Amino acid sequence: MYRLPKVSLVPLKKKNEAFISLLHQQEIGSTWIKSEQDQVYEIQLGKQCVGLVMLSMIAPEANLINLAVEKPLQNMGIGKQALQLLIKKLTRSKVSMLHLEVREQSPALRFYLRQGFYSTGLRKAYYADGEHAILMTKQI
Ligand SMILES: CC(C)(COP(=O)(O)OP(=O)(O)OC[C@H]1O[C@@H](n2cnc3c(N)ncnc32)[C@H](O)[C@@H]1OP(=O)(O)O)[C@@H](O)C(=O)NCCC(=O)NCCS
Repeated sequence: MYRLPKVSLVPLKKKNEAFISLLHQQEIGSTWIKSEQDQVYEIQLGKQCVGLVMLSMIAPEANLINLAVEKPLQNMGIGKQALQLLIKKLTRSKVSMLHLEVREQSPALRFYLRQGFYSTGLRKAYYADGEHAILMTKQI
């Protein structure tokens, strides 16, 4: 049976090409600059950057700004492993609640429900195109 190389979360030191392409895929843009309370990680498969995690810390809570896996590598268990690694890190830092918002029509909504997030509310027309955002939380 084929096994995926190890998934790891590595704090971003410098925006590399793969990371910038992920920023574009997420429509964030490469000029994005992280603020003081943000944490940014590369999701690495082996030593290769295949995804990103962007997090804002509001201890003892955290807000997951973005979690993304490169398109061709989605649905292979990488996102789930990255989220589990992130939750381990957060619990070590005494974070007990993880929040996020996701587009109502996004397939990611199903992903987060499977990972134990529950819906806590709705922000109407939150996105520029008028789509609603679903607010979600997981106790960790
Ligand atoms: C959402 C995302 C991070 C998930 O990562 P992934 O590596 O593709 O997901 P995984 O393969 O780890 O899937 C984990 C579980 O979620 C389920 N899942 C993943 N994508 C799904 C989808 N589109 N619909 C339904 N279930 C889905 C899988 O079936 C799997 O279920 P299991 O735990 O029962 O086996 C990834 O698809 C992605 O980058 N999407 C685009 C960016 C995005 O929308 N990010 C969220 C905004 S914050």
